[in-house]
Amino acid sequence: MAKNRTGETARKERAAKDHGDATNPGRRVGLWLVGARGAISTCVVYGLAGLQQGLHGSVGVVTEQEPFDSLPLANWSQWVLGGHDVCVRDFGSSAAELVRSGILSPELVAAATGQAAAYESRLRAGILDGPDVGLSDLNPESARRGGLSPRDQIAALRSDLEQFKQANELDRVIVVNVSSTEAARSPQPEWESLQAFEQALDDERPQPPSCLYAYAAFESGAGLVNFTPNVGASLPALRELAQKRGLPHCGNDGKTGETLIKTVLAPLFKSRALRVLSWQGYNILGNRDGQALADPIRREAKVRNKDEALRSILDDDRMHTHVGIDYVPSLGDWKTAWDFVHFEGFLGARMNLQFTWQGSDSALAAPLILDLARLVDFAAERGEAGVMEHTAAFFKSPLAGGTHDFHAQQDRLLAYANRFLGRGEGR
Ligand SMILES: NC(=O)c1ccc[n+]([C@@H]2O[C@H](COP(=O)([O-])OP(=O)(O)OC[C@H]3O[C@@H](n4cnc5c(N)ncnc54)[C@H](O)[C@@H]3O)[C@@H](O)[C@H]2O)c1
Repeated sequence: MAKNRTGETARKERAAKDHGDATNPGRRVGLWLVGARGAISTCVVYGLAGLQQGLHGSVGVVTEQEPFDSLPLANWSQWVLGGHDVCVRDFGSSAAELVRSGILSPELVAAATGQAAAYESRLRAGILDGPDVGLSDLNPESARRGGLSPRDQIAALRSDLEQFKQANELDRVIVVNVSSTEAARSPQPEWESLQAFEQALDDERPQPPSCLYAYAAFESGAGLVNFTPNVGASLPALRELAQKRGLPHCGNDGKTGETLIKTVLAPLFKSRALRVLSWQGYNILGNRDGQALADPIRREAKVRNKDEALRSILDDDRMHTHVGIDYVPSLGDWKTAWDFVHFEGFLGARMNLQFTWQGSDSALAAPLILDLARLVDFAAERGEAGVMEHTAAFFKSPLAGGTHDFHAQQDRLLAYANRFLGRGEGR
């Protein structure tokens, strides 16, 4: 690809990279994190501060490599962070947890003290799924907001977003949902159209918080990323709203670990005509997300997303699959996934593949949040609206559907960037 470029094109691309959004370097963009005191958000805050100060490199950031680094994406210094959370846990203690887990270095935390304090001053009370869920560190204002009507909850969220935009003189805000996994819900009739959804809001029918955050984001003109398995803007009603407001969005459920590997390996079996008999996957994790997923009602959506990817690629009803997720507190932010794949080859020979994945969930997720925020901002700058189909590679359950094969998804992302750059499609 680089070989085909003229010297002039390469020079322009280098200039765009050095200056970030070369078309408007003075532009300021807000990244609003829902779940602002959680592990991923903490990693995003310190990671971005480190990038802004040039304290570490950008390993793990997809948009820092070719061809994305030639796109006029907002550079690190253009971003301002804020967010919603329902707990009052001191942000310093969220950072200390990641220092103990060996994810954040004490030097980075010390160097980013100012940025972390400024971020914490921009945090606002989120909305709860009902008035109280018995959290020990619950923000009383979130408990109060949890008791408001859905319309009043949306008004409170919108006011926070609009105030963030105004106070920080931002040109645009991108909302990224990285809050705890919600209890799974069965589809509601009012989710089918915007009109029915708005009627349900008027009738004060309770809705999942992720949907109210999405509604508030779109109504305040913000693009959206849903990195969680929560319903969010996957509903036809909210997709309609995004289209109506001309806003880009993507989701659901970040693909960072076991599912990422599964969607790389499963196409191999398919391509070589090998028959997968069983695919057993066990995940053990120790962070708060693991604690939330210990609740079977919350675990349901996550397990569904992990299994769906495999089933869609291998498309064999005879295959036996199992996804287990267990909470092991001592692991902290580290997750281990062990997968056993039993498969059949020529002449019925039975073989197996096993892999063990040990990763820091937050260190894997944080750079993708920065990537997705940049890509949503870029799409919004270009006037793109609706589901960002080219971001499927980032998600376990991509909103646009389509293949779960990671390489095919990545090719789509590359084609999107290359089209903009006027290069040939694909790799
Ligand atoms: N880390 C990964 O690799 C990965 C991959 C895919 C999806 N996810 C999803 O990302 C989310 C965040 O993960 P994490 O490890 O940072 O979790 P975490 O538990 O550390 O953080 C979640 C934060 O959300 C807050 N919260 C809960 N309900 C809220 C609400 N209604 N409004 C606002 N804030 C709320 C919590 O108080 C907490 O501070 C989870 O849903 C997880 O399933 C993570």
